Amino acid sequence: MNVILLGPPGVGKGTQGVLLAEGKSWKHMATGDILRANRREGTPLGQEAQKYMDAGELVPDHLIVAMVKDTLASLPQEQGVVFDGFPRTVPQAESLDGALSELDRGVDRVVVLEADGEVLVKRIAGRRSCPECGSVFNVYMNPPAREGVCDKCGSELVHRADDNPDTVRNRLNVYREQTEPLIRFYEDREGVLARIPGEGSVEEIQRGIWEVLE
Ligand code: AP5
Repeated sequence: MNVILLGPPGVGKGTQGVLLAEGKSWKHMATGDILRANRREGTPLGQEAQKYMDAGELVPDHLIVAMVKDTLASLPQEQGVVFDGFPRTVPQAESLDGALSELDRGVDRVVVLEADGEVLVKRIAGRRSCPECGSVFNVYMNPPAREGVCDKCGSELVHRADDNPDTVRNRLNVYREQTEPLIRFYEDREGVLARIPGEGSVEEIQRGIWEVLE
């Protein structure tokens, strides 16, 4: 299956995407994580993406689409994928359709996670991320066992550079203007889109996603 997790910054796409991919043995394709890895490694893509990410703007479609196509082409045919943070614009969604159909695949399900703006801001303020394995924690709601240290791989946790209040405000605006229209885009396809409340416990939300996929 090819499943897209859609929703505003901080709603839990990464948290749920990691669990879903682990539970189903799917590939977790998180474009934000791939871009951050490129930045750490200082690749040309990472250097180009930096100014957009730091401002809370979207990285240009052609860079993102090329990156996703490369990853898709490297996967075995039967490998399920959970897309997290992609597509984020209608042109990206159209490119994804084209890339998947070339591989004899299609978008099977789009799960929209929804939460109140205040919840999103609080979650983002408390987020701590592992730059090595991508695990995500929250100092208020889901703290690691040892402060500042990743439970999974022992690396030092970081507060993301784009999690400051001004950038978060812009990311929320960019989501409303450029990404929210995708809900209508997928709603027009019968039986593809499902909305799930993103405000329960991590486990409850994960169960909700599994029910939708069943
Ligand atoms: P990206 O990394 O994709 O960021 P985002 O979409 O803004 O989403 P976040 O990572 O902020 O939130 P999330 O929904 O994953 O929430 P999380 O699970 O971490 O993109 C970053 C940037 O990269 C973009 O701004 C853009 O510049 C660029 N980019 C990426 N993809 C692109 C694309 N396709 N096109 C163009 N540019 C692109 O959870 C948040 C916090 O809440 C965590 O602390 C977590 O522990 C906590 N939490 C989660 N669930 C719960 C819960 N149920 N209860 C309590 N706490 C919870």
